[in-house]
Amino acid sequence: MKVTFILNHQEETWDVHPNDYLLDSLRTHHIVSVKRGCDTTSCGVCTVLLNGKAVPSCSILSASIDGKEVVTVEGIAKEAERLSEFMGHNGADQCGYCNPSLALSVHALQQENPHPSDADIRAFLVGNLCRCTGYHGQQEAILHYLEDDQ
Ligand code: FES
Ligand code: FES
Repeated sequence: MKVTFILNHQEETWDVHPNDYLLDSLRTHHIVSVKRGCDTTSCGVCTVLLNGKAVPSCSILSASIDGKEVVTVEGIAKEAERLSEFMGHNGADQCGYCNPSLALSVHALQQENPHPSDADIRAFLVGNLCRCTGYHGQQEAILHYLEDDQ
Protein backbone atom coordinates (compact mmCIF):
# COMPACT_ATOMS: atom_id res chain seq x y z
CA MET A 1 0.00 0.00 0.00
CA LYS A 2 1.07 3.60 -0.56
CA VAL A 3 1.27 6.30 2.08
CA THR A 4 1.79 9.97 1.31
CA PHE A 5 3.00 12.14 4.15
CA ILE A 6 5.30 15.03 5.00
CA LEU A 7 8.77 14.02 6.13
CA ASN A 8 10.99 16.84 7.36
CA HIS A 9 8.98 19.44 5.44
CA GLN A 10 8.89 17.51 2.13
CA GLU A 11 6.14 15.36 0.71
CA GLU A 12 7.00 11.67 0.35
CA THR A 13 5.10 8.69 -1.01
CA TRP A 14 6.31 5.30 0.21
CA ASP A 15 5.21 1.76 -0.45
CA VAL A 16 4.67 0.03 2.89
CA HIS A 17 3.33 -3.30 4.07
CA PRO A 18 0.31 -3.11 6.42
CA ASN A 19 2.42 -4.70 9.19
CA ASP A 20 5.43 -2.39 8.85
CA TYR A 21 6.39 -0.17 11.74
CA LEU A 22 7.48 3.40 11.13
CA LEU A 23 10.92 2.76 12.66
CA ASP A 24 11.60 0.06 10.06
CA SER A 25 10.21 2.12 7.17
CA LEU A 26 12.34 5.13 8.12
CA ARG A 27 15.51 3.08 8.42
CA THR A 28 14.74 1.26 5.13
CA HIS A 29 14.59 4.72 3.55
CA HIS A 30 18.02 5.56 5.01
CA ILE A 31 16.77 7.72 7.90
CA VAL A 32 19.13 5.97 10.30
CA SER A 33 19.23 8.81 12.83
CA VAL A 34 16.11 7.09 14.22
CA LYS A 35 17.58 4.36 16.42
CA ARG A 36 16.37 0.96 17.51
CA GLY A 37 16.70 0.11 21.19
CA CYS A 38 14.16 -2.00 23.04
CA ASP A 39 11.64 -2.28 20.17
CA THR A 40 8.93 -2.43 22.86
CA THR A 41 8.14 1.29 23.50
CA SER A 42 10.31 1.48 26.63
CA CYS A 43 13.55 3.28 25.76
CA GLY A 44 12.60 6.23 23.55
CA VAL A 45 15.58 6.10 21.16
CA CYS A 46 13.23 5.61 18.20
CA THR A 47 11.34 8.86 18.95
CA VAL A 48 10.02 10.94 16.07
CA LEU A 49 7.57 13.84 16.00
CA LEU A 50 4.20 12.81 14.56
CA ASN A 51 2.03 15.86 13.97
CA GLY A 52 4.24 17.61 16.52
CA LYS A 53 3.97 14.99 19.28
CA ALA A 54 6.97 12.90 20.38
CA VAL A 55 6.08 9.22 19.78
CA PRO A 56 8.04 5.95 19.68
CA SER A 57 8.24 5.01 16.00
CA CYS A 58 8.68 1.33 16.95
CA SER A 59 5.00 1.29 17.92
CA ILE A 60 3.51 3.30 15.05
CA LEU A 61 2.26 1.42 12.00
CA SER A 62 3.60 3.00 8.82
CA ALA A 63 0.16 2.61 7.27
CA SER A 64 -1.21 5.07 9.84
CA ILE A 65 1.00 8.01 8.82
CA ASP A 66 -0.83 8.70 5.56
CA GLY A 67 -1.64 12.43 5.45
CA LYS A 68 0.41 13.18 8.58
CA GLU A 69 3.66 14.99 9.31
CA VAL A 70 6.76 13.17 10.55
CA VAL A 71 9.87 14.99 11.77
CA THR A 72 13.17 13.31 12.52
CA VAL A 73 16.28 15.05 13.83
CA GLU A 74 17.18 16.07 10.25
CA GLY A 75 14.08 18.30 10.33
CA ILE A 76 15.31 20.21 13.40
CA ALA A 77 19.01 20.16 12.54
CA LYS A 78 19.77 23.70 13.74
CA GLU A 79 18.05 23.20 17.09
CA ALA A 80 19.69 19.79 17.57
CA GLU A 81 23.12 21.24 16.86
CA ARG A 82 22.59 24.02 19.41
CA LEU A 83 21.39 21.54 22.01
CA SER A 84 24.43 19.36 21.40
CA GLU A 85 26.70 22.31 22.21
CA PHE A 86 25.02 22.63 25.61
CA MET A 87 25.31 18.85 26.06
CA GLY A 88 29.04 19.07 25.43
CA HIS A 89 29.50 21.93 27.88
CA ASN A 90 27.65 19.97 30.58
CA GLY A 91 29.50 16.69 30.19
CA ALA A 92 26.44 14.98 28.68
CA ASP A 93 27.91 14.28 25.25
CA GLN A 94 28.85 10.62 25.43
CA CYS A 95 28.06 7.81 22.96
CA GLY A 96 25.34 9.92 21.33
CA TYR A 97 22.95 7.05 20.63
CA CYS A 98 20.10 8.80 22.45
CA ASN A 99 20.89 12.31 21.19
CA PRO A 100 18.54 12.48 18.14
CA SER A 101 15.54 11.25 20.14
CA LEU A 102 16.36 13.54 23.04
CA ALA A 103 16.60 16.57 20.73
CA LEU A 104 13.19 15.72 19.25
CA SER A 105 11.62 15.32 22.69
CA VAL A 106 13.11 18.60 23.89
CA HIS A 107 11.74 20.27 20.76
CA ALA A 108 8.26 18.82 21.43
CA LEU A 109 8.46 19.97 25.06
CA GLN A 110 9.43 23.47 24.00
CA GLN A 111 6.46 23.70 21.62
CA GLU A 112 4.08 22.49 24.33
CA ASN A 113 5.58 24.37 27.27
CA PRO A 114 8.10 27.12 26.41
CA HIS A 115 8.95 27.76 30.09
CA PRO A 116 9.16 24.32 31.71
CA SER A 117 10.33 23.90 35.30
CA ASP A 118 13.03 21.42 36.25
CA ALA A 119 10.28 18.98 37.27
CA ASP A 120 8.39 19.55 33.98
CA ILE A 121 11.51 18.62 32.02
CA ARG A 122 12.10 15.48 34.07
CA ALA A 123 8.46 14.41 33.69
CA PHE A 124 8.37 15.07 29.95
CA LEU A 125 11.60 13.19 29.26
CA VAL A 126 10.89 10.21 31.50
CA GLY A 127 10.60 7.94 28.44
CA ASN A 128 14.00 8.94 27.01
CA LEU A 129 16.50 6.49 28.45
CA CYS A 130 20.24 7.09 28.28
CA ARG A 131 22.76 4.36 29.05
CA CYS A 132 25.71 6.71 29.50
CA THR A 133 25.19 10.10 31.07
CA GLY A 134 23.41 9.56 34.38
CA TYR A 135 20.90 12.27 33.34
CA HIS A 136 22.21 15.11 35.54
CA GLY A 137 24.35 16.63 32.79
CA GLN A 138 21.54 16.22 30.27
CA GLN A 139 19.10 17.95 32.59
CA GLU A 140 21.49 20.87 33.14
CA ALA A 141 22.18 21.14 29.42
CA ILE A 142 18.47 21.20 28.57
CA LEU A 143 17.75 23.84 31.22
CA HIS A 144 20.52 26.10 29.91
CA TYR A 145 19.47 25.49 26.31
CA LEU A 146 15.86 26.47 27.02
CA GLU A 147 16.90 29.50 29.09
CA ASP A 148 19.19 30.66 26.31
CA ASP A 149 16.27 30.51 23.87
CA GLN A 150 14.07 32.85 25.90
S1 FES B 1 13.04 1.20 20.25
FE1 FES B 1 11.15 2.25 20.39
S2 FES B 1 10.94 2.75 22.48
FE2 FES B 1 12.76 1.55 22.39
S1 FES C 1 24.76 9.25 25.51
FE1 FES C 1 24.92 7.10 25.24
S2 FES C 1 22.87 6.42 25.40
FE2 FES C 1 22.74 8.48 25.89
